[in-house]
Amino acid sequence: MIRANRPGGAWEPGFRAAYRAFMTGMDRPRRLRRTPAMRRLVAETTLEPRQLVLPMFVADGLAEPREISSMPGVYQHSMDSLRKAAAEAVGAGVGGLMLFGVPRPEDKDAVGSQASAPDGILNRGLRALTEEVGGDTVVMADTCLDEFTDHGHCGVLAGDGSVDNDATLDRYVEMALAQAEAGAELLGTSGMMDGQVGAIRAGLDAAGHIDTGILAYAAKYASAFYGPFREAVGSSLQGDRRTYQQDAANRRESLRELELDLAEGADIVMVKPAMSYLDILRDVADHSPVPVAAYQISGEYAMITAAAERGWIDRRGAILESLLGIRRAGADIVLTYWATEAAHWLS
Ligand code: PBG
Repeated sequence: MIRANRPGGAWEPGFRAAYRAFMTGMDRPRRLRRTPAMRRLVAETTLEPRQLVLPMFVADGLAEPREISSMPGVYQHSMDSLRKAAAEAVGAGVGGLMLFGVPRPEDKDAVGSQASAPDGILNRGLRALTEEVGGDTVVMADTCLDEFTDHGHCGVLAGDGSVDNDATLDRYVEMALAQAEAGAELLGTSGMMDGQVGAIRAGLDAAGHIDTGILAYAAKYASAFYGPFREAVGSSLQGDRRTYQQDAANRRESLRELELDLAEGADIVMVKPAMSYLDILRDVADHSPVPVAAYQISGEYAMITAAAERGWIDRRGAILESLLGIRRAGADIVLTYWATEAAHWLS
């Protein structure tokens, strides 16, 4: 049968007539891919500068910005270079800035005191950003203790060395108040303590900070892809965060985390990391009544950067495709270390 239908085979004339008839009415999706103008017209997903948020690091006691070796092109900023980079990002049209603070090693302690000190590096940085670009973009703060604790965990420790959830909530509230006072408009609750959104919301409201919002890390997984970030913030962590961050094996659990954060008052919810968790992002986007963000993290940045440096992939194409994929999976907002550069390309 099959042999007969080959060119020159006995059944060829009949076969050709049949497939010609089929082709006459055949569906041709390629019509909509023919020209750049046609592709632009029918594109389902957009990528715009306003949808991008730039995570930034400000380090205490730096005179000059210091490049992070595992994240070429990303810097620990001095107060001066922070202002300049923020102004450049805003000039490119980015939607927001998410600031992380890097204290001097000698200023770290068991409870992360510098996180809530008004003159701690993160709070000083927030004041500088608010002064420099406030109103032109959204100033966000990382609300987590790990950069400030000498043990590197996201919370305070109990006597047995475990991370004490409820004692940590008190510290998060103190940190949140200091950040709101320093001008932060959205607080990124990245510590994965139970009840963190509710505790911070109640603390902010009680202090009159009713307009300070919460960007809740609803789903945050324990990930090997955070590696370069640990260098970026000079992390002191020994061990891992598996008793508070989620297990990569779990999907349903993220919907539980989403529901809790919504009930506790999250204004925006986030999924992190992004690229290995696009299914989670889609689940959250399908269920969330509030805007959804995704964080393209340090290891994702490092992978594409390293492969591009070796000439193994096209850098710009890979960056834009990765961002578009994250948007397509359901993110309204994407945190990415390429925010400024991508915004320049897009505008
Ligand atoms: C911790 C925190 C981490 C990141 C943001 N906040 C790392 C971690 O949980 O260990 C990672 C960001 C990145 O990798 O780009 N509060």
